[in-house]
Formats: sequence, C-alpha cells, structure tokens
Amino acid sequence: MALLLRILPSLLVCVFLHDNSAWAKVDVTMPKVLEAYRGESVELTCNYTLSKIKRPPSNITTQWFVETPAEPFGKRWRIFYDNSKIKVVDKSTNYSERMDVRSGIWGTHILIRDLQVSDNREFFCQVNGMEAGFREGKTQLKVFSPPTQPAIEGVTTPIPVNNLKPSKVASCETRNGYPKPNITWYKDRRPLTPDPQRMKVDTLTTKHSDGLFAVHSTLEYQVTREDKYARFSCVVSYFVPGSVWMLESNTVHVLIHYPTTTLELKRESPPGLVIEGDTVTLRCVGNGMPPPSYFFIKIEASGSMSNLESKGDVATLNAVSRNDSAIYQCRVRSNKTLNGDHNLTVHYLDPAVVVPKDLEVMLIGEDLTATCNALSSLETSTVWFKDNQQVGTGNTLHLNNATYNTSGEYTCEVTCPSMPDLHTRGSVHIVVQGGPQLVGVQQEVQQGKGAGRMVNLICEAVGHPLPSITWNIDGSQSWHEVVSNTSDHKTRSVVSVKGTSNISALCNASNDIGTDIKYFSIEAIGRVTPAAPFQSAEGNGVIIAVIVMCLVMLAIIGGIVYCLHKKGKLSRGRSGKKEITKEKNNKEDVVVEMRMNTKKEEAVLLKAINGDKNGHHEQ
Ligand SMILES: *[C@@H]1O[C@H](CO)[C@@H](O)[C@H](O)[C@H]1NC(C)=O
Ligand SMILES: *[C@@H]1O[C@H](CO)[C@@H](O)[C@H](O)[C@H]1NC(C)=O
Repeated sequence: MALLLRILPSLLVCVFLHDNSAWAKVDVTMPKVLEAYRGESVELTCNYTLSKIKRPPSNITTQWFVETPAEPFGKRWRIFYDNSKIKVVDKSTNYSERMDVRSGIWGTHILIRDLQVSDNREFFCQVNGMEAGFREGKTQLKVFSPPTQPAIEGVTTPIPVNNLKPSKVASCETRNGYPKPNITWYKDRRPLTPDPQRMKVDTLTTKHSDGLFAVHSTLEYQVTREDKYARFSCVVSYFVPGSVWMLESNTVHVLIHYPTTTLELKRESPPGLVIEGDTVTLRCVGNGMPPPSYFFIKIEASGSMSNLESKGDVATLNAVSRNDSAIYQCRVRSNKTLNGDHNLTVHYLDPAVVVPKDLEVMLIGEDLTATCNALSSLETSTVWFKDNQQVGTGNTLHLNNATYNTSGEYTCEVTCPSMPDLHTRGSVHIVVQGGPQLVGVQQEVQQGKGAGRMVNLICEAVGHPLPSITWNIDGSQSWHEVVSNTSDHKTRSVVSVKGTSNISALCNASNDIGTDIKYFSIEAIGRVTPAAPFQSAEGNGVIIAVIVMCLVMLAIIGGIVYCLHKKGKLSRGRSGKKEITKEKNNKEDVVVEMRMNTKKEEAVLLKAINGDKNGHHEQ
C-alpha cells in the first residue's frame, strides 16, 4: 500500500549490449537504484523498446534474475520467466510467495511485498528479442531498517577524577538497524571529540540471522571535576532513503568523585551585623565530592586556637557575646594547607552610665554638666529627654544657672544608628535647692479706724525644700490663717488680721537652707467712715475686680456731676458723693477707702486679687 519507490531519475540508464543486428535493436530501461524500507513493497520495472522494426516480434522472451551476493560474480537464480506464451513465477525461490507480476508487450512490472534485508541486492532483467538482439538491465534495490532508539546505561559506581586512564562512563545499544548504524557519544548535547588520551570507544556490532544489525558501544572517558553535572548520551546515526537520520538516547549523569581544593566558611545567619545574644550559624562549603568531614577552629586575637563543636558542615554559636569575636576556620584532614575562614565581630552596647548618677542636688543658680556614656563597638548617638521633651543631644548635657524648673528626671537614650536593635537608657534625677525667697517687698498696710476691721496679709515664698511659713503678729489678738497652699516650689499663706490699733506682723519663711522674713505694718488712719470688716480673701476675685471697675466708673460720674453742680448748670442741690456712698455695700466702701489713701495700698489690694486668682487656678 504505502509503496515507497525512489527512482533516481538521473540514474536511469539504457543498457546497450553488443549489436548483433544492423537493422534491429532492443533497448532495456530500468531504474538504476530503488530504495525502500524493510516490510514495505517495491515495484521493479523493466521496459524495452525495439527500433527499426515495423512490428514487435512474436517470440520475445523476458527473464528476471537475482544473484547470490556471496559469490563475486554471483550464482544467478531466475525468479520469473515470460516467453510471450507463458508467464512463470519460478517456484522455491525467495520471491515465489512475495511477488506479483504484471507483464505487457513493452515490459514487466514486478511487485515484491514485505521487503527483507536479503532483498538488498541487484535484480536483473534479460530481454531476448531474437533478431532484434539480446539486452540485460539491472536495478539495485536498497532496503533500510531504522534502528531502535539507543538504550543507554551509565555506570553506577562513582568515578574518581584522578584516574590516569579513561574510565567506563556508559554503554549504549541500538538494534534492528540496516544498513549498519553508527553510534557516537555526546556530552551535554555536544559530540565528544575523539581524543585518544581522554576517551576510548569500544564498538561491538552483531548481525542477526535476519540481516539486521545491533550495535553496542561503550564509552570510556577521563572525567574532570567540571564533569560533575555533565550529562552523557549517545546518538545513533543511520541511513534512510536519500538521507542520514539520527536518534538520541536519554541522558545519564554519572557520579564523579573529586578532592577538595577550596574551602569557604560562610555565615548563614544572622544576616547583617551580629549583636550579642544572636545565634550564629557558620557553614563550611568545600568543593570536594563526596564532601569530606570538616572540623572547625576558633582563632582569637591573642592567637590562641580552640576547637569548635560542629555538626557536619555547620557550626552553631549560641547566644554570642563579644568574647566570640574571632576568626573562625573550617578545615579538612586530608589537606592541612586548606582552610575557609570567617571573621566574626559581635557588636554590643553596654548599659548607659550617667554621671552624676541617680540623684543630684544642686543649688539654685549653679551649673552642672551631666554625661551619659554607653560602651559600644558601634558608633552611638545620644539624646537627652526631660518630661518626654528632647532637651539635648550628645553625651554631655549642660545645665547652666539652675532654676527650680531645672529640677526633674533627665533621661539619656543611647542608640546605634547602624543597628536599631541596640539601645540603652540611663537617667539622673536633678533636685535644685534654694533658701526661701519671699515674693514682694516689705509692706505697710494702712487701715481705717474702727473695731472689727479685717485685713488680709499675704506671704508667698519660693524655695526648695518647700519653705514653711510662720507668722508673728503683734498688736492683734484676733488673727487667723485663711489660706495656706503650696505648689511645686512655692508656699503661700494668707492671714486675716483684725486690728484696732497699729499692728506689726512678720512672716517667716524657712527651710533647711535658710530663712527669709517679711514685715508688715498696719496703721490705723483717721477716717471716721464706718466700714465693715475686710472679709477673708477667700471671696471671689473676679467679683472684686468687677466691683473695682464699677467703682472707678461711679467715681468718674460722681466727679462730673460735682463739677456740673459747681458751675450751676444743674439745679440739684445734693452732694453726689453722699448718694453714691449710700448706695454702696460695705465691701465697696472699704475698697474706695483704701484706694483713696495711698498708692501703696492699691498695690497690696491688687496683689491680693492676683494672688487669689493664682490660688484659684492652682486648686
Ligand atoms: C558510520 O561511520 C562510517 C565510518 O566513519 C561512515 O563511513 C558511515 O557513513 C557512517 N554511517 C552513518 C549512518 O553515519
Ligand atoms: C524664723 O524661723 C526659723 C525657724 O523656725 C527660726 O530659726 C528663726 O529664728 C525665725 N526668725 C525670726 C526673725 O523669727
């Protein structure tokens, strides 16, 4: 069915045998070569022509022969015979059962089925035209059998690289090929160039009874370290009609053993800088196969060496400290000159040391320089904080001209910019001390005459430790402290004094460091206007302020009214002053009175108001 005939047109020949007739001639035409695959069918043709003859002779004989290939000029076997009267396929030949013949006036076509390797031979066609002459033609039939894909087998034992001779690497076999196929060897898909020093190929070809070839090839090769990942394969090349085809085997990898020539000690973890407490993993990487057994040593800066525990190619240093900073090496016993080393630096940051430490007392106005240092293998950066506010950078902090506000907790924070995990802090508590200082100067308080008048005396003292205030009042049997409060560095005391005559008072603020004293003198003055007692300064300061403003306005209005009255432009004959006085309550009276007396008094009053405001604010 799938008859594959390859007729090579250029090879068509006419075969002329010697003429034995001057006027008649027979010519035989046959393809010189026919190519087909084993198992297929092929059609052989033998055509003849007769020239110088009006009509074909009746007794033309055609015979087909094959030759046994063994003999040089071959013993011929006839396979078909046609003498125009009978057509005979010869019995008991190789072709008796596989041949179909179509024979006509001008030629014969022979179809041979199920081609065998033995059909790879010449087929002869003899035409005997009697008076037209005798001619013979021939066709070379070529039979092809593609071989199987080569099966490869790599050696399973490791190959040492230091072998002086090539070692067996793999063998390949392909079967059922015809004509004889060739096997060539490849490494990493490239043909191995024949090199008698490095490689040797043994080929064994077997011919089976059916004529097909099996080819077995063994590769011996001198492997090198570079061949550790090499993949070997073989390729069978074989003839097909008109071409050469190739078929590759699978690839195989063979185990190669080679000595260690380089060692490297790598830190696997942690990446980046190592700090105290880290777990450090060092891995030894050698280029030998099989991997040799490694051992690890530690070489300290002093030069002292010690062995390191390891497991296979890994040494683990748990919770390293700065003492683990050293050169580490891994080595192999087979080659003493070889080592891989790693220089390990363990970074650290010691706790911050603040000078002065813990608590430092300074006197008001003094200077102090505090330092904060933390020993580190890395560059550090220091920042000072007080009450969560940054107050300085660098490892010294200057506190100049201390005030009470200078007091507090100073914290320094030391960090390593290159290693954010490293940080430490330290602190110092600064206490600023000072003797009491009374606020305001010596006071003279003037007071209107009259029993039951009350005057508030205010004494405020700053200092640390907190001053305590004591009062010493002469001339009054009735006084009491109405306000006593303290804030950070300030003590405030207000006493309410009831006086009938001149009173002298003393406010004594004292602490461990010193005392400060303030005198008050309260004079009774000659006004008869009765006034209610000065109420305790606990009254609302705001109300007082409003009242003061109202009074000031009333006074102005009063003045205007008075002037108008004097000029006669107003018909009313009353004194404005009297009316105003009547409409006041007692408190207002007192204030007006004090304001009228002295400027100093006004200052005291305003101070009282302010002080009260402050007191209110601080509650
Ligand atoms: C096989 O090798 C021989 C010798 O090198 C060569 O003549 C022949 O053509 C080769 N055959 C194939 C199929 O490549
Ligand atoms: C003030 O008080 C302190 C401590 O109580 C005392 O030593 C000192 O003598 C007092 N000063 C006066 C003038 O009273």
